[in-house]
Amino acid sequence: MVVLKTSRELGIMKEACRISAGALQTVGKAVEPGVTTFELDKLAEDYIRSQGGEPNFKNYHGYPATACISINNEVIHGIPSKKRKICAGDIVSVDLGARFDGYNGDNAATFACGDVSEQAKRLMDVTENALYEGIKAACVGNRIGDIGGAIQKFVESAGFSVVRQYVGHGIGTDLHEAPEVPNFGTAGRGIRLLPGMTLAIEPMVNAGHYDVKVLPDGWTVKTKDGSLSAHFEHTVVITPDGPKIMTLV
Ligand code: MF3
Ligand code: CO
Repeated sequence: MVVLKTSRELGIMKEACRISAGALQTVGKAVEPGVTTFELDKLAEDYIRSQGGEPNFKNYHGYPATACISINNEVIHGIPSKKRKICAGDIVSVDLGARFDGYNGDNAATFACGDVSEQAKRLMDVTENALYEGIKAACVGNRIGDIGGAIQKFVESAGFSVVRQYVGHGIGTDLHEAPEVPNFGTAGRGIRLLPGMTLAIEPMVNAGHYDVKVLPDGWTVKTKDGSLSAHFEHTVVITPDGPKIMTLV
């Protein structure tokens, strides 16, 4: 069931999203050669708690950390580790969220560590702009398929591919609510978008083929062909005046 949020609920959720965005920005600024993904995770958790929030990924289906940190050919759900140091030239996808007063925020971005390849730069740029194409399509009267259709068209015309096995989602009192928000699909298909819907739109884009595999740790998702991958996500509310991004600092 898709839950439409009241303006009272949106006010609380906005705070969860503000905390999520601040935590993501804090981690992004700390990405540099030699830092471990564990240290980045700790920064995220400390920031979220300092703002009166709670890390909403922690213990979600047994997930052990605040953030998912996925490097280079890792797509999503990389588990922070004291043994994993970030190197110059890496691209680092950070996905995290906060819960505040029972409501959730969720956002992600891919950061460059030092100088990265031209391909990596273009991949990050295309993925971020694909997110904005998806958000632009999230208008009252449009359908879920308009979001994924816009993202897929943008990504594929740049020569990259959209991950199929993982999708965006509704968000509210639960981190993952109905509806699913695929980053691919056909404009005009799927449920109608209504004011008060809150969606996490999150394109995952591979430089090569869209196929992915899960590592034996049960979490880390990598590209099957070893190509680079990027991920950008915002929590968005659909309003009569158009889509509004909630995960802003
Ligand atoms: N970040 C994912 C999302 O955007 C959820 C992470 S699942 C977790 O929907 F278990 F890692 F928390
Ligand atoms: Co999400």
